[in-house]
Amino acid sequence: MDQDIKKILVTEPEINEKCKELGHLITNDYKGKKLVVIGLLKGCIPFMSDLVKHIDIPLCVDYMSVSSYHGTTESSGYVRVNKDLDTSINGSDVLIAEDIVDTGKTLKKVMEMLSVKGAKSIKIVTLLDKPEGRLVELIPDYVGFVIPKEFVVGYGLDFNEYYRNLPYIGVLKEEVYSK
Ligand code: IMP
Ligand code: MG
Repeated sequence: MDQDIKKILVTEPEINEKCKELGHLITNDYKGKKLVVIGLLKGCIPFMSDLVKHIDIPLCVDYMSVSSYHGTTESSGYVRVNKDLDTSINGSDVLIAEDIVDTGKTLKKVMEMLSVKGAKSIKIVTLLDKPEGRLVELIPDYVGFVIPKEFVVGYGLDFNEYYRNLPYIGVLKEEVYSK
């Protein structure tokens, strides 16, 4: 896999350190609240797993699966729910855990859905933010790393379902897309 990567944007130690930092921030901000961390499958898994270990207050987790990318590197803007929440979030303080925010369309739609379900508050934590890609107004509350408008893989992020197991965030070589 490593030979398909053009350059490494964020290293494994940098990610570990950031998860610690974000976990401490979230711990302070959510003291006394009814926190539910909702991960967006499948990309959230490595990040959410590392992050929640550093949140030192009682919390519940749940997952949703929505798709917005259909085997291409461009966002279609269309959001389909493949798997909904298992638990009620009525009256809960929801923190959505996401791997990356690009156009913002996915999260905008998910936030609307969660608000209909009666969430008391809804915030976003994302490992990566590509603000240059934004097509709707959306500002994540907690951001790990701001990155340029490049297609990245690793640490949960995929290209055609592969590369999620890379322990770092890297930019894929162009020739890999055209294979
Ligand atoms: P948005 O709706 O454009 O913000 O897209 C968000 C979703 O698109 C993310 O949850 C990712 O699944 C996917 N995505 C956006 N940019 C990238 C990228 O650079 N690499 C891999 N997936 C990406
Ligand atoms: Mg995702």
